[in-house]
Order: sequence, then C-alpha cells, then structure tokens
Amino acid sequence: DLPRFVKIVEVGPRDGLQNEKNLVPTSVKIELIHKLVASGLSVVEATSFVSPKWVPQLADAKDVLEGIRKAPDVRYPVLTPNLRGFEAAIAAGAKEVAVFASASESFSKSNLNCSIEASLARYRDVTSAAQKHGIRVRGYVSCVVGCPVEGAVHPSKVAYVAKELYDMGCTEISLGDTIGVATPGKVVPMLEAVMSVVPVDKLAVHFHDTYGQALANILVSLQMGISVVDSSVSGLGGCPYAKGATGNVATEDVVYMLHGLGIETNVDLGKLMDAGDYICKHLDRPSGSKTASALSKL
Ligand code: HMG
Ligand code: MG
Repeated sequence: DLPRFVKIVEVGPRDGLQNEKNLVPTSVKIELIHKLVASGLSVVEATSFVSPKWVPQLADAKDVLEGIRKAPDVRYPVLTPNLRGFEAAIAAGAKEVAVFASASESFSKSNLNCSIEASLARYRDVTSAAQKHGIRVRGYVSCVVGCPVEGAVHPSKVAYVAKELYDMGCTEISLGDTIGVATPGKVVPMLEAVMSVVPVDKLAVHFHDTYGQALANILVSLQMGISVVDSSVSGLGGCPYAKGATGNVATEDVVYMLHGLGIETNVDLGKLMDAGDYICKHLDRPSGSKTASALSKL
C-alpha cells in the first residue's frame, strides 16, 4: 500500500549548494528558498552551521537564515555538526536543526573528522540542548548502503546508528545513500533492519542519484511504508567529502512520479520548475531533472 501523502524535504539550498565551487551570493540563496516555498514545499533545509573551512559555500549561514522571509507553517531546518553550530543556529533564529552521523567509520572521519561514537556523543549534547529550547532535531545517517572508502555497509550498522539517534531524541531519521550506489535490492534489507528498531513513521529516505537508481529506490521505500522523501531541486548537489557523488534525486522528478501515482505532495510542479530555472540560470548549467527538461520543451 502506498501512502496517500508524501512529505518532501527539499534539501537543495543545503545539500545542493554545499558542493558548488563558485560562491553563490547570499541573496540568490534566499531568493531560491523563497521560490521553493512558493511552490508549496513545507520543509526547506536552508543551510548548515558547519565550519567554513570545511564547507566554504555555506559560510553565510547566519545571513541566509536571518534573511529568509519566514512563511507560517514552513520549516527551515539547518545542519549543525556540534554544539557550537547549534548555538549559532538558534542565535540566528533556527527552530529546527539536523545532526548527521555516518554508518561507516571512514566516512565519519572524512566528513566530521571523528569516529561514529564521538559524533554520537556530540549529538547527545546537541539533542539535550535542543530539548531545553523546544527545538526539533532531525538525524541523518549517511552511507546507508555504501561508503566511498569502505564499500558495502551492512544494514546492522545503519540500524545501530539510526536507533542511537532516535533514542537521543531525534524526531525524524533520514537514511542517506550519500554516494548514490543503492539499488532496490539493497534498500529493502537496509530498511527492514532499521524498521525493526525505529518506527517507520519516524523515517525518511535521502537518495543521491549517481547511478540513476533514486526513483526506483524511493518507490520501494514507499511500498515499505516510508512517507518522507528528501530531494533537491534540479538534482543539485553532492557531498564535498564523498568524491564522485552527484546530486540528490531531483525534486521535480519525485513530484512527477508521486503525482503520477496519485500521491499528494501539495507541490505545484510549474512553480517548482520556476525555482529550478532560477538556480540553474544562476549556476549557468542545464537542469539535472529529466522532468524539468522534458516539460520545458513542451
Ligand atoms: P575539526 O577540524 O575536527 O574541528 O572539524 P575543530 O574543532 O578543530 O574546528 C575546525 C575549525 O572550525 C575551527 O576554526 C573551529 O573554531 C571551527 P579555527 O580555530 O581553525 O579558526 N568550527 C566551526 N565554525 C563554525 N561552525 C561550527 C564550527 N565548529 C568548529 N559549527 C567539524 C569538525 C565537525 C567542525 C567539521 O568536520 C565540519 O564542519 N564538518 C561538516 C562537513 C559537512 O558539512 N559535510 C556535508 C554535510 S553532510 C552530507 O552532505 C550528507 C547528508 O546530505 C546525508 C547523505 O547524503 O548521506 C546529510
Ligand atoms: Mg546528501
């Protein structure tokens, strides 16, 4: 049974832009977020309060978050790798944050410069501070199927990290195929393992589309009861610490598939394409969304 409604978590302004070499002006980031919200998206991940040495593109996190004209009922979560980032985020008005752990040791080291256990200890500090402020925390697990260094990742490792994040108070756990190597045959056992320790209504899926498998992976996830899907307008993105990984699945393609299945999203595809057009023109590149390319030729 497929869900009747799917909540899309738009990660383009964060996951999409974090890997761009040329600095995108703050005003363009803010306008992109406004356009995404205008299309009906109710969750738009806005930026990251991470070290600017690690992700120079998002060094303007404070200005982006403060500069957004906040719409009622829209959530603008931001990534926070540690307590310092959390404090900066709430000082800039964040009402929701996300922490990000890895199911593979090597990727934890390359993305966060620490072990999985050390990252979880940091995140316990973040979640307990967040509870005091009444702030919701989303927890990401990266490398849920494969790691750029270690190769295949066992589902039990994903389940372990997902449960730790859930137990420390994360209200939603997003399962990330960081390098986009998953196929449905790998997604099913991974989700089974995670669903045996975290309720399915607390889970989201986050597929990068490196191998063109993301829509198939989303479909099997929906069939297994998942109803929250992360995506990036025009398929922007890639993780700066996962070499060769391309963008997230394109939001336009996800919306087209979901609407085709009769699943509601509240997103207006035409307005979403306007947002995609805007950022692709700025970046001077064609859309990474097949749906957007096809519809714009009609
Ligand atoms: P570190 O070098 O081990 O730590 O980095 P440090 O404490 O030595 O800090 C280094 C410098 O950053 C210091 O500055 C700190 O003050 C500063 P210096 O003294 O050298 O001038 N610093 C900060 N500045 C601003 N905000 C902060 C902050 N913390 C320290 N919060 C650290 C450790 C965690 C900071 C670093 O590794 C980091 O920022 N990593 C983030 C990497 C990242 O953002 N990756 C992409 C997001 S994850 C992703 O894309 C995957 C996902 O999409 C899911 C999926 O696809 O699977 C979520
Ligand atoms: Mg990602």
